[in-house]
Amino acid sequence: MTTDPLLPVPRLAIIVVAAGSGTRLRGAAPKAFVGLDDRTILRHAVDGVFAGPLAQVVVVAPAERVGDALTDARAAAGERHDLVSVVAGGDTRQQSVAAGLHAVWADVDLVLVHDAARALTPPEVFERVVGALRAGHDAVLPVLPVIDTIKRVDAGAVVEAVDRSALAAAQTPQGFRRVVLDEAYAEASVDHTDDAALVQAAGGDVWTVAGDERAFKITTPGDLDRARALLGAEATGDGDASRPAPATVAIPRVGIGTDVHAVGGEGALWLAGLEWPGEQALHGHSDGDAVAHAIVDAVLAAAGLGDIGTHFGTDQPEYAGAHAAAFLARTRQLVEAAGFTIGNVSVQVQARRPRLSARRGEAEAVLTAALGAPVALSATTTDGLGFTGTGEGVAAFAVALVVPR
Ligand code: CTP
Ligand code: MG
Repeated sequence: MTTDPLLPVPRLAIIVVAAGSGTRLRGAAPKAFVGLDDRTILRHAVDGVFAGPLAQVVVVAPAERVGDALTDARAAAGERHDLVSVVAGGDTRQQSVAAGLHAVWADVDLVLVHDAARALTPPEVFERVVGALRAGHDAVLPVLPVIDTIKRVDAGAVVEAVDRSALAAAQTPQGFRRVVLDEAYAEASVDHTDDAALVQAAGGDVWTVAGDERAFKITTPGDLDRARALLGAEATGDGDASRPAPATVAIPRVGIGTDVHAVGGEGALWLAGLEWPGEQALHGHSDGDAVAHAIVDAVLAAAGLGDIGTHFGTDQPEYAGAHAAAFLARTRQLVEAAGFTIGNVSVQVQARRPRLSARRGEAEAVLTAALGAPVALSATTTDGLGFTGTGEGVAAFAVALVVPR
């Protein structure tokens, strides 16, 4: 790499790892190449790097995206595009960092490793990490205090509460004396989730500095909405008293679900989470509870997680004969793992029988408890028309609202 002899050559390098696929984000492109506004996550991350201390910048990208990454990195670097290079990453984050380390210039003595996914990290965090390295620490980790009460859980049961004052949430950029990081990588035999863990496993001491809320990692679709909302607030001049406060809440999402089952199954009727003695059962792989299944479809659709067949296929024997509670509890887990909270569900059943009105409150309580969010149930007959009117089958229609966290 040639650099202009008149420009300063930094002794600091920042490796920006952007080679992940973004499985949990489920975007159309690898995570770093998903747009936040008119700029990608990677572009924002490298913009942030260039707003901090002068450094050689090594971007680690998926092999098939090296060209795109170079375009973003050079645009962020502006006149100092002599400082940027892009290399292809590996299958794990650790392999990607190792690839980046190989591209660090010989006379660099401090190395920061930063997740591109922490695209909105402010320059102060970079300055704090570099400051602590210059003050003599070998390894520096930005952290945030843990706010939630933390429990140790085993197979669904709480084992104990964990003292959160002894805990901290790790962020990036993580900074290292180059020789310390090089040696730790040369020795590494197992995979670590971050570089501070790897250095510590090699016997190094890690010092902490304050992280920043804005350095959160974009992992789920909810995180993406949060990042976009923060950028939107900046663009509209957040903090300017003459303007209305911009909405920084993530935008809720709706989903729709429908299910139909024919009358004539074995055993008792199960509908809306309740057993209906004396009523004719419905056909179905599980208990044929069209109300529960319509809710599942609506909630999954709202979170962009496909539909009931995606997660509860006939190849899953544990759901054969299962009742509403099992389906709804699992749906809630799936949606929460994807970064959403369920707001509410409205479901309407069309059936000649049973008469739901007498047990509506009971059904709503069962469905609400299983889903962990309010479920409102309404019912109608269809004036004798169609298969629901003749009593050949039951149909249910649900609308769900989920909110990105
Ligand atoms: N990363 C990388 N190479 C990999 C895996 C991850 O460079 N083989 C980078 C990601 O691009 C990201 C950072 O490491 O900037 C943190 O990883 P993570 O947030 O887990 O991103 P992904 O692995 O892309 O996402 P997911 O785990 O959801 O697939
Ligand atoms: Mg990952």
